[in-house]
Amino acid sequence: MKNILVTGGAGYIGSHVIVRLHEEGYNAIILDDFSNSNKSVLKGLHKITGKDFRVYEGDILDISLFEKIFHENQIEGVIHFAAKKAVGESVDNPLLYYKNNVTGLITLLESMTENKIKNLVFSSSCTVYGQPDSLPVTEDSPIRPANSPYGNTKQIGEEMIEDTVKSGAFLRSIALRYFNPIGAHPSGEIGELPLGIPNNLVPFITQTAAGLRDSLTVFGQDYNTQDGTCIRDYIHVMDLADAHVQCLKYLENINNPNHFDFMNIGTGTGSTVLDAISSFENQSGKKLNYQLGPRRPGDVEKIYAQVDKSVELLNWRTQFTLDDAMRDAWNWQKKLSSI
Ligand code: NAD
Ligand code: UFG
Repeated sequence: MKNILVTGGAGYIGSHVIVRLHEEGYNAIILDDFSNSNKSVLKGLHKITGKDFRVYEGDILDISLFEKIFHENQIEGVIHFAAKKAVGESVDNPLLYYKNNVTGLITLLESMTENKIKNLVFSSSCTVYGQPDSLPVTEDSPIRPANSPYGNTKQIGEEMIEDTVKSGAFLRSIALRYFNPIGAHPSGEIGELPLGIPNNLVPFITQTAAGLRDSLTVFGQDYNTQDGTCIRDYIHVMDLADAHVQCLKYLENINNPNHFDFMNIGTGTGSTVLDAISSFENQSGKKLNYQLGPRRPGDVEKIYAQVDKSVELLNWRTQFTLDDAMRDAWNWQKKLSSI
């Protein structure tokens, strides 16, 4: 059984990837400092898979921890999720973001190349495109100057990996540029656990419906879209998780010892904020308390992916709809709130 190290494996996306890795016959090993996750996720993983995964609790900035993991386990590949991800916080505290996300990746790359660990899947983001000139956005679209330190850490991360590969290091890596991950495992045993007031739309919707928030404000009503609200490509976290496993298999089958590439992971379909609310209302049977408000600074008007590259290279396609994601997000929220 191949061992795969999953940094940030206790987090939202990482925990769903652990399940898919297990289903596909990999042995997932978690490295997480639990700075943005809760150990209860390990219980959820056990309920779904019947397995207790090996966990290294610690910081990706600690190179001795990587050395320990690579010496104690024969690791075939790494999926690197561990990062800070709050855009607003990164504007207020950029050095925290550069230290965690950039220095953390340097530490990982140093240790991987030193220990000849060949395969790396990197969590990037569609934020690297900014507001694209044409839609759907392809991988050929230009990278725009990042509009937050968080976004910049993703651009720098991709460049650092590419330069490491170009330098001749035996490393094969793909940066997956995610669009908007939403939803939860259909069992309701794992899902997104935002700390404090959520920034993202779907946790805010489900917390409002659960009575934890009074109402949702829709940010902006005068965008150049069919109903005036922003458009995003919402992808079910289970589909996103599957893309990681297919990506790992793809990397394993590349003969060239040096390889770097990047690809979009989305559904290819754009939905407005009002579409998302309507889907939630249909799936939950609950009327959401929301009002239209002013734009949120920094939001792009519309973005959705062209996914031909990932569909072709990874032999992957999405299975879940926006409605499925809303059903599963609500199912997860109901369990959390004991509704
Ligand atoms: P998350 O915060 O739920 O998971 C990240 C995990 O990494 C957490 O469990 C956290 O405790 C851990 N972590 C953070 N810093 C660490 C450190 N220094 N050492 C060890 N562990 C550390 O986030 P997520 O939504 O699962 O996102 C995973 C990755 O995907 C991140 O790199 C994020 O930037 C990227 N991404 C997320 C989204 C999104 O909307 N969720 C979109 C695009 C890209
Ligand atoms: N929105 C609302 N009200 C809210 C929250 C969000 O109307 O309370 C709207 C936003 O304005 C946006 C849409 O819902 O139009 C989606 O917003 P999210 O915050 O859920 O997602 P973003 O597209 O803004 O950002 C996400 C990640 C970022 C990442 C970015 C690009 O949260 O980390 O995708 O990858 F940088």
